[in-house]
Amino acid sequence: MSKPPVLITAALPYINNLPHCGNIVGSHLPADILHRFYTAQGRDSVLVGGSDEHGAPAMMAAERLGIPTAELTERLHDAHRRIYEAMGIGYTNYSRTSSPEHHRMTGQFFDALDREGFIHQAVEAMYFSPEQGHFLTDRYVTGTCPQADCGYEEAYSDQCDGCRRPLEPGELVNPRSTNTGEALTVRAMPQLYFDLPRVRGDLGRWIKSQRDVWRPHVSGEASRWLADGLRSRSITRDLSWGIPVNHDGVQDQVFYVWFEAPIGYLSFTHELGSDAFAKYWLNSDAERIHVLGKDNIPFHTIFWPGMLMAHRDIQLPTNIVGLNYLTFEGQKFSKSKNIGVFAHHILTSDLHPDVLRAYLTTTIPEARDTDFKWSQMQAHVNSELIGKLGNFFNRTLSQIRKKFDGRVGGELSDLTDSDRFLMEDIASFPVQIGERLSRAEFREAYRQVMEFASVGNVYLERTAPWTAVREGRTEDARRSLNLALNLGRSLAIVAAPFLPRSMQELWSEQLNFEGEVGAPGRWDEASQVGISTDHQIGQPQRLYEGIDDARLASLRAEFSEAANIEDFL
Ligand code: 2FM
Ligand code: ZN
Repeated sequence: MSKPPVLITAALPYINNLPHCGNIVGSHLPADILHRFYTAQGRDSVLVGGSDEHGAPAMMAAERLGIPTAELTERLHDAHRRIYEAMGIGYTNYSRTSSPEHHRMTGQFFDALDREGFIHQAVEAMYFSPEQGHFLTDRYVTGTCPQADCGYEEAYSDQCDGCRRPLEPGELVNPRSTNTGEALTVRAMPQLYFDLPRVRGDLGRWIKSQRDVWRPHVSGEASRWLADGLRSRSITRDLSWGIPVNHDGVQDQVFYVWFEAPIGYLSFTHELGSDAFAKYWLNSDAERIHVLGKDNIPFHTIFWPGMLMAHRDIQLPTNIVGLNYLTFEGQKFSKSKNIGVFAHHILTSDLHPDVLRAYLTTTIPEARDTDFKWSQMQAHVNSELIGKLGNFFNRTLSQIRKKFDGRVGGELSDLTDSDRFLMEDIASFPVQIGERLSRAEFREAYRQVMEFASVGNVYLERTAPWTAVREGRTEDARRSLNLALNLGRSLAIVAAPFLPRSMQELWSEQLNFEGEVGAPGRWDEASQVGISTDHQIGQPQRLYEGIDDARLASLRAEFSEAANIEDFL
């Protein structure tokens, strides 16, 4: 039976700034790990994402810098793209919401909702600045969250960062201008609304049906939302930056950014061709997995599926991998206060991106918030990445090189119990790691990769091929190095979704195998034993540099500075 195609998306980052490592572990990295895994499994997998260019965040950043918004997003889009590439995020398509395809798709999607009777116009209260003589919206407006159980005082007018509830214009208590602090009044203005309550029944049933698929905090948040009651959502804004609505009565308005941004998942798939669009979005056999951070959960579990239900023709996501937050040494990441680990340094640093990926994988905030700690990174790199994985490859390859001139392939006979156990482990570890990844349990999958390397190290110590050679038991030594090399081949394949660049270098140069370590079908090969008689390995080389205290201090200093956006313009 052929395996169904799978589409993976990472939340589209706003590009008013450059990403920190919390942004990387909150979507791009886990999405990339999944995409690499499914590809190696032989699934037809694509990873799509892109820059969320519209809305208030980019406009406000451009105003601060005194440049046109389009110029800012042009430059920052390019910087984001380069940073993800340097981090080894293998997007099939990293696009942007200003693309013509996205404009077209947004218009088409809106028309479909309109045709189905889901759009209506109403004149409602909007925030108005008496001093500036115009309306203000979304992040331009700050005030107190109206929810009784929250009351956060720095809530934006479209979303409260205290309770993560999306808000509607007019709801804030004591609204004021984010930029000037001026008190705002409200004035009536025509808006287009999406009739979310009309899909309430379907949404409720669907959210319930996803309980065994989503993590508990994702289901919990979606249910809380439903219980709060659904209201029609305004989908237009009186802004000069965005996708024009072109609809009677709201001629000069643009679509609200949270209406059009998720449509990017469709547009960016369509940019791969209309066949791709049909394969992933119109096909009920395909899987569609959204990977996103905590604050994006309501939009992906309620509004976006609600829009898809209203549209009718497009399939719903099959999984929503909603993550939590990463903190930095116990504090919130802050770009303005230089608190954190800032990802753009990877463009200029000599730090191997896989070293950063390795530690970041151990911090993916799956079930709860997690903390980045430099001392933990040092310990992880030295004792796990190098002590277990690097060490296993190094010992195995050096022994094969030194004692057998690089060749240990061929038939195996006189297997001992240790050999048989090892062969069982080679058969079972890739299956178990694959099961974890299929459930988006990244940290446990990665822990098992390291355990697999430990199994290899224990086997080498137990069978001690170096002693066997010294004692003239050459065939015993060849057999154990052959099996260790088999484990190494398998280990490289299962480690590759986490450490793509270093595992590819190891695969091609040191193990001396053909093609890509993550090529379609490799995952099944990882459970097999069989190195050909004439296989000759390459030259062993150290995979990663250790981190001593001096190196740690310099990395810490290097990565702790938030980006100065002007450097990227
Ligand atoms: O929170 C954010 O950064 C948003 N730009 C995420 C959008 S994800 C999507 F749905 F497009
Ligand atoms: Zn709140």
